[in-house]
Amino acid sequence: MQVGIDMGTVSGGTPAKLDIEELLATRLLVQGNSGSGKSHLLRRLLEQSAQWVQQVIIDPEGDFVTLADKYGHVVVDGERTEAELIGIATRIRQHRVSCVLSLEGLDVEEQMRAAGAFLNGLFDADREYWYPVLVVVDEAQMFAPSVSGDVSEEARKMSLGAMTNLMCRGRKRGLAGVIATQRLAKLAKNVAAEASNFLMGRTFLDIDMARAADLLGMDRRQAEMFRDLKRGNFVALGPALSRRPLPIVIGTVETSARSSSPKLVPLPNAPQDVEDLIFTPDPEEFTRPLVRRAPPAPRPTTDILAELSRAAPAAAPSPAEPRVAQPELSPEEREERLTGVLSEILDDPQSGYRTDAALYQDFLVRARMRRLPGPPMALSDFRRRVAVVRAGVDPEMASTEAWATALSLSADVSDDLQGVFLMMAKAAIGGEACPSDARIAKAYGTHSARRARRLLGYFEEQGLVVVHSDFSGKRVVAFPDLQAETAPGAADAPDIDEARAAAE
Ligand SMILES: Nc1ncnc2c1ncn2[C@@H]1O[C@H](COP(=O)(O)OP(=O)(O)O)[C@@H](O)[C@H]1O
Ligand SMILES: [Mg+2]
Repeated sequence: MQVGIDMGTVSGGTPAKLDIEELLATRLLVQGNSGSGKSHLLRRLLEQSAQWVQQVIIDPEGDFVTLADKYGHVVVDGERTEAELIGIATRIRQHRVSCVLSLEGLDVEEQMRAAGAFLNGLFDADREYWYPVLVVVDEAQMFAPSVSGDVSEEARKMSLGAMTNLMCRGRKRGLAGVIATQRLAKLAKNVAAEASNFLMGRTFLDIDMARAADLLGMDRRQAEMFRDLKRGNFVALGPALSRRPLPIVIGTVETSARSSSPKLVPLPNAPQDVEDLIFTPDPEEFTRPLVRRAPPAPRPTTDILAELSRAAPAAAPSPAEPRVAQPELSPEEREERLTGVLSEILDDPQSGYRTDAALYQDFLVRARMRRLPGPPMALSDFRRRVAVVRAGVDPEMASTEAWATALSLSADVSDDLQGVFLMMAKAAIGGEACPSDARIAKAYGTHSARRARRLLGYFEEQGLVVVHSDFSGKRVVAFPDLQAETAPGAADAPDIDEARAAAE
């Protein structure tokens, strides 16, 4: 069966044909600078041949997932273990299903490992499943780099080995490599050399042009023509395309790339509370998974400050500079002094809008000035104490079991949210009116009422509270674990402190 698919037009308007069966035996290399239209070309090829041949696309950008809807490709997310990827690749061959391996969001090394594992899985399929598959690899220089880069040698070997297998030894096993690269000079030579068909697009750099001319067996001066090619224009050569270099224009596509060239988009109107939006973290941020493989975090300034404010080691004092002896304090006296320093800081009405880190630094300096003995308080302890002071818990409530439960529940919310959480818990335990949005916002260090409501929504999602309204529409926040709920309170009431300050 001979199937000539239509890639676009040759000058004069005749269709530019690509012989799929021939392609399966002789592979294809597409080269062109970024924006020259390679991914579009691959998409045209995939769409036109989808009904004829099984396809696997190694897709670093997640561009080709849009083939799924129209052509039924299965989208495989690359964020899996190597064993899982090999298993999926094996089943892809057994069941002859077309698929897109989307590597979007992985770092380069993970992309290489995932692509390597998947390609090896395809390659190692049992002989009974050696049906023909077009294996399209976009940005192939990533997976078969000509020189070692920043990634580990092991990842590079794995990925390069898999690409070499695909291009050099895949044919017998039914694998037909179609690879695209923006820089021929960056692609491993042995991988490029196995393709007998070429589609060359716009190429700027002399070194890439020279490599292209060598591959095509062209005069280097002749290869100068690649410099002036327009987007979507390619020179075709090879047994599946044309016996002589043939300029073609790639035709239109049915599906769209999810990411396309950047387009200018009008800026939105600046929101009122822009500073709040930028400087206050969203509650959702705390649930977002940590960035994988982050380098070791730099030490926070607060840690360094804590260390600096620690008393010098006992062995250090030199006789020339006798240290002032630290007075011995009883735990009660120490606690009293500590509370004094804390309230000094928190009594400032603006303290509600300062970050915990700034307050903590202030606290450390003052504690040092007051010659508070012992190791300085850790930031997490400080936050907790601030939360307790801000919640305004009196000694009587502080000794209740409900408050102890509230404190232990608060350990489950992130440090930044403890203040808000404890304030709400205190209102519930004390049967006080539900704090207003303005009050909640302030406890979180923001002016944004919207954010306050989202905080409540977040606590609710975590199963910590249940928010409901009374018959008059006032808000009630219930804490199932505390078996307590606030009295109804108006969500839009002004913050009492501020209202008072405004009245004075
Ligand atoms: N033959 C073509 N016809 C119409 N638009 C095209 C053609 N080739 C490319 N484009 C458009 O040009 C942009 C860049 O093309 P793309 O294929 O992403 O380039 P590359 O993959 O080489 O960086 C895309 O928005 C694409 O839709
Ligand atoms: Mg591209």
